[in-house]
Amino acid sequence: MIYWVLVVGAGALVVLLLVLRRMMKSLATRPERILAFLAMAVFPALWLAGMMSYADHEFKKVSFCIQCHEMGEHGESLTSDNDESLAAVHFRNSRVDRETACYQCHTRPGLSGLVEAKMKGLHDVYVYYLCESPEELELHGEYDTSICLKCHGEAESFLEGWGHQAILEELQSGEMSCLECHDVAHELDD
Ligand code: HEC
Ligand code: HEC
Ligand code: HEC
Ligand code: HEC
Repeated sequence: MIYWVLVVGAGALVVLLLVLRRMMKSLATRPERILAFLAMAVFPALWLAGMMSYADHEFKKVSFCIQCHEMGEHGESLTSDNDESLAAVHFRNSRVDRETACYQCHTRPGLSGLVEAKMKGLHDVYVYYLCESPEELELHGEYDTSICLKCHGEAESFLEGWGHQAILEELQSGEMSCLECHDVAHELDD
């Protein structure tokens, strides 16, 4: 769906620019030409900004992620009734924005996380369409604890709860992962 919007949008823009170019040739006066020229610069800029914000919004959606990950059953794991499963516990209780749950838990905080997420997205699309997808999905590298901390780091329930205080430094520095104890991320059926 998103791909179609992007392709049709780009097509419409090209047509518009061609029309404007023709119009420009028939325009006589200088102000008219300047105006037409500005229109040619403004439309693409508006289009680009609109498309980028639209794409950004769409690419964060669970529905976008699971169009490819259905087989991995990660989408279904969101509604599993396993109370140990982090994805399910967060999704079922709306502890992450439901519409963008995957993105929330798979994007590191800050600008570098944002850029990394875009690169990763390109990588996923590349592998999906041009290579053989792996039978079983695996994280590239370890899950980064800073993702959990971006929501929990300052929260009383985490700081005061259980015995996190004693291991706070190790958690913050990344020496210890939350997953050492909260060790079910996705409950997947075999
Ligand atoms: C509450 C946070 C959370 C949510 C929500 C979440 N994930 Fe995860 N996901 C994790 C964690 C943590 C791991 C790392 C598991 C590990 O290393 O043992 C993981 C691992 C994965 C993996 C690697 C394979 C695996 O199972 O270990 C994939 C693929 C994945 N998630 C996709 C998704 C998709 C797609 C969604 C949305 C449908 C999603 N995740 C939602 C936390 C989450
Ligand atoms: C076009 C299909 C496609 C879409 C859309 C897609 N993925 Fe993936 N994803 C893949 C493929 C293929 C792999 C395996 C890549 C590899 O192993 O190199 C993968 C691997 C992963 C992994 C495990 C490897 C890693 O990067 O650590 C995670 C986590 C993941 N995807 C999360 C997501 C999330 C979150 C979204 C939505 C924001 C998403 N994916 C959207 C196809 C897709
Ligand atoms: C987008 C924000 C967000 C992210 C990312 C996130 N959480 Fe949470 N999580 C919450 C909120 C909000 C709650 C409910 C309030 C609370 O318990 O502090 C919660 C609750 C929990 C709970 C208690 C669950 C229960 O049974 O009620 C655990 C355990 C937890 N999170 C661990 C993690 C771990 C580990 C990670 C990283 C893999 C993580 N969270 C990532 C927002 C988040
Ligand atoms: C050494 C083990 C351990 C590590 C590491 C750990 N936790 Fe916990 N955590 C627990 C235990 C045990 C509980 C209490 C039982 C439960 O709710 O699962 C708990 C409870 C929680 C709760 C629920 C608190 C409440 O009462 O509402 C949250 C939220 C949480 N942990 C988040 C995190 C996050 C985020 C990390 C990583 C930054 C983390 N934990 C790392 C063991 C750990």
